[in-house]
Amino acid sequence: MRAEPNIVVLTGAGMSAESGVPTFRGADGLWEGHHIEMVASPEGFARDPELVHRFYNLRRAALNTVEPNAGHHALARLEREWRGRFLLVTQNVDDLHERAGSEKLIHMHGELRKARCECCGAVMAWNKDLASGTRCRACGEIGGLRPHIVWFGEFPFEMETIMNVLKNADIFLCIGTSGVVYPAAGFAKEAARNPACRLVEFNIESTEISRQFRERVIGPVSVELPKFVEQLLTDTHRQ
Ligand code: APR
Repeated sequence: MRAEPNIVVLTGAGMSAESGVPTFRGADGLWEGHHIEMVASPEGFARDPELVHRFYNLRRAALNTVEPNAGHHALARLEREWRGRFLLVTQNVDDLHERAGSEKLIHMHGELRKARCECCGAVMAWNKDLASGTRCRACGEIGGLRPHIVWFGEFPFEMETIMNVLKNADIFLCIGTSGVVYPAAGFAKEAARNPACRLVEFNIESTEISRQFRERVIGPVSVELPKFVEQLLTDTHRQ
């Protein structure tokens, strides 16, 4: 391992569960009787844009009622105190990582608090509700705005950067994800191409990808991550 090892962290819905943001596959996977794929897809949006807007409007508004948990704060501390290269990749569309202080962060599945115009391509901060009749602040068109979210069948953001950083990872932490949605579910395999890479999974249970990890920490992130980060910083800085 390098003197200043590179670390890549991937987070999923389990990261925010203890903050009160529901996970995707924890409950029955339905929202008001609709399968998640029906509301989180381009086809679903074409079929019933108001329904899709309502789904995301509720989630966006719910962000006002939640706070980062001790796990988010532990990752922000890790970034602040880490001397090597650091990248946090999240599948989450909430803003709890940045509210905890994380800065080197990629939202590969987009962000609830952004909207994108399909007419002019502008991406803008958006904290209010969206509807089919909402006017784009950039081009003035009505009807082009959609949540800046990566839906089923669409390509995640910044994949080239992520893959390049993963290639050079000395440590890969995979936190609170069920490992069923690609390409994120394949990141451990990518990092493991470096045989010296330390691979650690954090979850409250076994996942589809658990077998790919040489180390596993079973337990809630708010408890396990602060302990792990403390130990990792102590061990790494002692060398
Ligand atoms: N601490 C650690 N892990 C937890 C916790 C917790 N407190 N609570 C739940 N988990 C774990 C669950 O055991 C599960 O493995 O978090 C995981 C959440 O899995 P999913 O709900 O499937 O979420 P995620 O893996 O992020 O989903 C990936 O799927 O629907 C799409 O785009 C959406 O980004 C999402 C993607």
